[in-house]
Amino acid sequence: MKFHKVKQINGTLSVPGDKSISHRAVMFGALAEGTTEVHNFLKGADCLSTIQCFRQLGIDIEEDIQNQVIRIHGKGLYGLSPSSSILDVGNSGTTLRLISGILSGQPFESNLTGDSSIQKRPMNRVITPLSLMNADIKSVLGNGCAPLCINESSYHSTKSTLKGIHYNSPIASAQIKSSVLLAGLYAEGETSVTEPNVSRNHTELMLKEFGATLAVNNKTVTIQPEPRLFAQKVQVPGDISSAAYFLAAACILPNSELVIKDVGVNPTRDGIIDVLVSMGADITKENLKNQDGEAICDLRVKSSNLHGTTIEGGIIPRLIDEIPVIAVIACFAEGETIIKDATELKVKESNRIDVMAKQLNNMGANVIATEDGMIIHGVHKLTGTVIESKEDHRIAMSFAIASLKAEGETIIQGAECVNISYPEFYQDLQRLTSPY
Ligand code: S3P
Repeated sequence: MKFHKVKQINGTLSVPGDKSISHRAVMFGALAEGTTEVHNFLKGADCLSTIQCFRQLGIDIEEDIQNQVIRIHGKGLYGLSPSSSILDVGNSGTTLRLISGILSGQPFESNLTGDSSIQKRPMNRVITPLSLMNADIKSVLGNGCAPLCINESSYHSTKSTLKGIHYNSPIASAQIKSSVLLAGLYAEGETSVTEPNVSRNHTELMLKEFGATLAVNNKTVTIQPEPRLFAQKVQVPGDISSAAYFLAAACILPNSELVIKDVGVNPTRDGIIDVLVSMGADITKENLKNQDGEAICDLRVKSSNLHGTTIEGGIIPRLIDEIPVIAVIACFAEGETIIKDATELKVKESNRIDVMAKQLNNMGANVIATEDGMIIHGVHKLTGTVIESKEDHRIAMSFAIASLKAEGETIIQGAECVNISYPEFYQDLQRLTSPY
């Protein structure tokens, strides 16, 4: 796909539903009794993989296209049935890691796989704690990655033999935390997870709405085994990780102003706003409200003169998926931006440190890839070139934003991977930008 420099970006948009919340709504709806209705569900490829997996596990899920509603006819915590074929999570790490926790508590064997990217992503981070809980879960090839086999031997007659643990997670990861907490629903005794820094807390907020007994104490979450969960109506907020591309575009382009409606600004997710404001961005939160525990608002963003900053420590999990686009923004900021403590970027859909640094430099940027992040010197000027998306949606969208201010033509190969989280991304971008 080809891109050219634009003059400005203006208008109002609604970004698609939050990916993390959409996944969880399907999973918890499947495990609840009754029909869960999900409004503003993200119909991106990752969340459709979650739907497909739960259909294979015997759950009836209706897509009411006209009303943009998904209905999940839940069968309760003990209502899943074995899939006759391998469960394919596609590109979705969230599906694979969370479903592993759920399937560890089932009285049947499950086999899971995904695309070539997912087959390279580390799964020991969930295999280790789930095994400590007594789950029989293995990487089939013994390389710590998918395909995975989860044996029914974790069951003893009709009762799960999972046992509750206290897990001190070495990584701040909502996928690890959620996987362990979901297995905890089936365990004997309570299960708790302590993280080095707090990661996104959608599982905690939503499981509570569905009737689970959870307690949060600083960086530790404790869950009690639960006999029943109950269907809910879920309204999915706009995804701040998708809004981030438009925040970036409005900040770096002159004479721009955007309003992004109904964006989820859960404090465990809104690190991008704090960072942009600390760089000098003009962003305001309007119509702030609370919806089922999730904070939502409209974001107004205007062109700004930005300066560099340092991003490190506890804020990293609050903006982990936004770092690629922050790297683009930093190219247009005065001075140096330092990103540290972000080694997790290496094991996302691609190695986001290497892929961003190398290709931004190909566009004329000044980026040094480090062991745990990047050092970016603002250059204010990029030049279009050929970019490989590496089939990573956040790479493709980040370079589409970079292209808006680049001289000449930018060609993004594999641009269609935005379908993973934001199928209408290019249409929205084209509608709101004014060409030269
Ligand atoms: C997610 C958690 C994050 C994030 C991913 C979605 C989730 O991953 O990068 O896009 O929905 O739980 P980690 O938990 O591995 O940091």
